[in-house]
Amino acid sequence: MKETKLKLRLYGDKALRKKSLSVKSVGAHERTLLDKMAEIMYASGGIGLAAPQVGINKQMIIIDVGQGLNTLINPKIKKKKGSWVMQEGCLSVPEVYVDIKRAKKVFVEGIDVANNKIAFWADEIFGRAIQHEIDHLRGKLIVDYVNLVKRLTIKRKFKVKTKKGLLS
Ligand code: CO
Repeated sequence: MKETKLKLRLYGDKALRKKSLSVKSVGAHERTLLDKMAEIMYASGGIGLAAPQVGINKQMIIIDVGQGLNTLINPKIKKKKGSWVMQEGCLSVPEVYVDIKRAKKVFVEGIDVANNKIAFWADEIFGRAIQHEIDHLRGKLIVDYVNLVKRLTIKRKFKVKTKKGLLS
């Protein structure tokens, strides 16, 4: 099974820029993937991980901000309240920290590992992590929140190819 080869993808890897597809039903295959994702997240000392970060473009995220492992499939933010700025890092963009303004509270819908519909309000670091991981499902990274000059510096550091005249 190719899951045995799952590894953390770093900035510059195309999988990080693809839009992830929704999961029709969570089965044994998805649960194996989620277990591997958790292994990688804990081994890397992260508090969240999205499937594209291990090269799987499916809408699956895991988060553990110190209150146990949370798994969210097909997560969607339905409501937002307030905003706050905090410095964020990302396992796929090591040693880069970016101040990011995000909603203070979000109402999230999705399904859990047993295919049950779930919906809840999330705030503090948990709410922020959910927003960060959902960005990954859309192909968005923390580097997209910085100005062009800083982004180019980061690109150089990670040797990310930049098309001439196209500072994406
Ligand atoms: Co990240």
